[in-house]
Parts: sequence; structure tokens; C-alpha cells
Amino acid sequence: MTAAIFILTGAGISAESGIDTFRDAGGLWSRVRLEDVATPEGFARDPDTVHAFYNARRASLSAARPNPAHLALARLEAEFAGRLTLVTQNIDDLHERAGSRDVIHMHGELARSLCARCGDRRAAAGDLSTGLSCAACSRVGGLRPDVVWFGEMPYRMDEIEARLLDADLFVAIGTSGAVYPAAGFVSEARAAGIRTLELNLQPSDGSWLFDETRQGPASTLVPAFVEAVLATGRP
Ligand code: NAD
Ligand code: APR
Repeated sequence: MTAAIFILTGAGISAESGIDTFRDAGGLWSRVRLEDVATPEGFARDPDTVHAFYNARRASLSAARPNPAHLALARLEAEFAGRLTLVTQNIDDLHERAGSRDVIHMHGELARSLCARCGDRRAAAGDLSTGLSCAACSRVGGLRPDVVWFGEMPYRMDEIEARLLDADLFVAIGTSGAVYPAAGFVSEARAAGIRTLELNLQPSDGSWLFDETRQGPASTLVPAFVEAVLATGRP
């Protein structure tokens, strides 16, 4: 039975690439009300404000670059072939730009659009707005960022749960453990007898649930973790 690693990343892995986290000091939710820009109710109330919020984040993303943590996980995928699951809560594309090919974006992707009228999902050609028509159904006013908002179900949860329970090691990187269902993965892993490791700049809401926690920047901790796995051939 080949050993398998399940990795969950959060906003902290992209912090050193210059992308704001949500709940750190000065984080996004200290500047913008998530009720206004990260809930279906907020979008229904004021779609233009929501489009402006995500258009600005999409524009700033093009200036960001993958950091050593993203690059190390891409190397792990290549050299720990077929035995790595990478699930991210992040809506940026830095894992892909670092070379990771099998990334599960459970909260969706900033670079994609979703048509609320017909369900069509595709790469966003540029800024989204209420005036744009859907390329699939031609209707106007239904396009939104393909991002899972509060109260909505994340993507590919059945696949995520199956791959989590098949792992020998669960690693959470740069996430505060504040949002479910991602925040519950560590408890599910523990209940299944799976070893758990947290890599984070500081203790998180769920640190006490992990077998081991290492504190420091992801750009240092993640390459060291990957080096050790590749040197021993096991998690
Ligand atoms: P939750 O209850 O875990 O929310 C954690 C925190 O988010 C709460 O403590 C609160 O501060 C805030 N919050 C949650 N829902 C809110 C709402 N409707 N209005 C204002 N603040 C709210 O999260 P949840 O509501 O149970 O959402 C879980 C679902 O939403 C999951 O499917 C998750 O994947 C999805 N989600 C997506 C995003 C995103 O931006 N992509 C963010 C969070 C949650
Ligand atoms: N290295 C490692 N960890 C870091 C770093 C870093 N350089 N910088 C910050 N962190 C950690 C913080 O200590 C914190 O625990 O990253 C975490 C960021 O937490 P949040 O801002 O809450 O981000 P996240 O856990 O991804 O949020 C979950 O909530 O609002 C939603 O859509 C949002 O998907 C997100 C979800």
C-alpha cells in the first residue's frame, strides 16, 4: 500500500506572494464586510460592488508570483507521483503557476466565471460585470465570479472526503481553521487514525487538534517538509 499525503492550503501559503489573507491583522475581512462581497445575499443586493471587489483581486493576482512553498508542493506532486492530494481554499492560481497540475479548488477560482442562469463555468476573459452576456446562454446579468461564498457548498466534496480518508498524513498549511467544512478535515483525519501536521505562522483555531504543529513562514516550512518526504520516500 503506497503512503499518501493529503494537503490542505489556505490564504497563508499565498501571503508571502503578496496576497492578503482574510483574518490576520489588516486582512481582507478587516477592510471589507464579507457579508457584502462573499455571500449570495451580498451579490443579489449589490452585484456591481461584488464585481469590483473580485475584478480588483483578479488584477492584483497577475502581479503576484508563486513563492517557495507553492514551488515545493509542485515538486512534491512530480516526485511523489500519484500519492499526493492538494486541496486549496484559495481562489488564486499560484499553485498552478508553480507547476502543480492536480489542484482541487474547493472554494472556486478567481480566474473563472460562473453563469447563475445556466451554470456555465469557464475562464474569465477579463473583468466581469452585470452588463456582460454569458457565452453559453447569451443571457445578460447572470455572470458572477466562480467563487464559493459563505453558505454555499464547496466544489468536489465527495472526492475530497474520499481522498482524505485514503491518506496516511493530513497536512494543513496556512489556514486559520475558521471556516467549515475545511476546518473539519483535521477532526475527520484524527477519527480515521490518520496522522496530522499543521504548518502555520502562528497557532490557529484548530492547532490543538493536530498531532504536530510547526510554526514559521510557509516559504521555509514547506520546502523543508517536502525535502524530508523526498529524502525518506515517505510522509
Ligand atoms: P462558517 O460558519 O465556517 O463561517 C466562518 C465565519 O465566516 C463566521 O464565523 C463568520 O465570521 C463568517 N460567516 C459565515 N457565514 C456568513 C454569512 N452568511 N454572513 C456573514 N458572515 C458569515 O462558514 P459558513 O457560513 O458555514 O460557510 C461555509 C460554506 O461557505 C462552506 O461551503 C465554505 O466552503 C463556503 N465558504 C466560501 C468562502 C469563499 O470566500 N470562497 C468563504 C467562506 C466559506
Ligand atoms: N506562512 C504560513 N502561514 C501563514 C503565513 C505565512 N507566511 N501568513 C499567514 N499565515 C496563516 C495565519 O496564521 C492564519 O492562520 O494563514 C492563516 C490565514 O487564515 P485566514 O486569513 O483565515 O485564511 P483561510 O484560513 O484561508 O480562510 C479560510 O475563509 O473567508 C474565507 O474564502 C476565505 O477560503 C477562505 C476561508
